[in-house]
Amino acid sequence: MTPAKRQLHLNLFIQGIGHHEAAWRHPETNPADMMDIGYYQGLAQKAEAAKFDAVFIADALAINANIEFGPFNNFFEPLTLLAAVAAVTTHIGVIGTASTTYGEPYDIARRFASLDRVSRGRAGWNIVTSSNERAAQNFGHDTHLQHSQRYARATEFLEVAMALWDSWEEEALIADRKAGRFVDIGRVHAIDHQGAHFRVRGPLDFPRPPQGYPVLVQAGSSDDGREFAARFAEAIYTAQNTLSDAQAFYTDVKARMAGYGRKPDQLCILPGLAPIIGRTTAEAKERQQELNEYIIPQYGLHMLSRNMNIDLFSYPLDGPLPELPPIEQINGGKSRFQVYVEMARRGNLTIRQLIQQIAFGRGHDTFAGTPTEIADHIEEWFTSGGCDGFNLLAPNLPVDFDRFVEMVLPELRRRGLFRTEYSGSTLRDHFGLPRPANQFSGRG
Ligand SMILES: Cc1cc2nc3c(=O)[nH]c(=O)nc-3n(C[C@H](O)[C@H](O)[C@H](O)COP(=O)(O)O)c2cc1C
Repeated sequence: MTPAKRQLHLNLFIQGIGHHEAAWRHPETNPADMMDIGYYQGLAQKAEAAKFDAVFIADALAINANIEFGPFNNFFEPLTLLAAVAAVTTHIGVIGTASTTYGEPYDIARRFASLDRVSRGRAGWNIVTSSNERAAQNFGHDTHLQHSQRYARATEFLEVAMALWDSWEEEALIADRKAGRFVDIGRVHAIDHQGAHFRVRGPLDFPRPPQGYPVLVQAGSSDDGREFAARFAEAIYTAQNTLSDAQAFYTDVKARMAGYGRKPDQLCILPGLAPIIGRTTAEAKERQQELNEYIIPQYGLHMLSRNMNIDLFSYPLDGPLPELPPIEQINGGKSRFQVYVEMARRGNLTIRQLIQQIAFGRGHDTFAGTPTEIADHIEEWFTSGGCDGFNLLAPNLPVDFDRFVEMVLPELRRRGLFRTEYSGSTLRDHFGLPRPANQFSGRG
């Protein structure tokens, strides 16, 4: 039998009413949708009809100063939103963000066990160490924990969460009416964890999730982030701007996995892609320009100033970036800082031009073209070691997702690059991931 052709994994990144920073000002979108759960449910149903692997919801735990000029997230707490999405869908994965810096492992393990059960095995956890330094003051701290300490905490956090999910063996819940035994207590284990960051006795107050663990997703690309991903992640979101950067990232992270006894196919790498679709190349470029006319520069100035740890408001918009602090001084998202600096350097961009370039995807790959050109771009990254699929950032929602489904997906399918039907019902099935063995019973 010839092995099945490798196919793309596609994930819909739902960010309010679109990823373009000024999507909310465009007549095609409706700002009221942002607060309407029916809108998110409808989008997830469309993504399911299109046979996408998953929908994804980010989270920041703090608002930013630029909210005066536009939204940056969905407002909703991700797991609450995704439980409502799971209730009206049957196959699509539901991936939500939760922070290891501001959460507690018992609480988060329990919430994902619950979401995995609510969705019948479709939950994924986007594990973040939180890039937004403002979150600290909402959680009783003066400052954000240092970058390397955040990852050390995240590592212990994962060890505890996995032990908690395993703390119930599969056969623990027996509900034997005759014998009068509800639980086989010998199959429910305390974890007695005592570490540098957490003390957790366990067991969890919830049986093992249907997928064993929710799919573990990671979204930091610094050196610490890559090491963490190589050890734990089963999918990665990442911002890569050129094919050669994507290839270098892909090769590096997959090579690091061997150090943890893992195989490269136990991890799907999904860079972000913001496609701007036109019937002709010229039409796509016009659309790109038209959307950018709604930009309010202060929005991008706030975002870049925060990310680059420097006040850009005091520099001319049409001048170059000033001297920037060294990356060691960046304590938010180190890899995003690097992406922005590289973009500005490569294109010799002014501050205004940088704001325009990142308006669609905050540093994710932005590509304007015809459906064929977009399919070529996707195919090239996918077949030349750049990725295992994409995290789709539609500029205006839902219209640009509809366009992608109507215009680009048929082309990808014609090339045999994307599924026409789901072959399983869990998120692990879609990503082709094994169900993890239980550390207490040794069984999956
Ligand atoms: C697609 C994508 C989504 C992300 N979503 C979140 C998020 O919801 N919340 C968050 O705090 N950080 C998010 N991040 C940021 C990363 O989790 C990480 O904190 C950041 O990249 C800094 O880590 P690093 O220095 O290792 O790159 C996201 C990153 C990417 C690429």
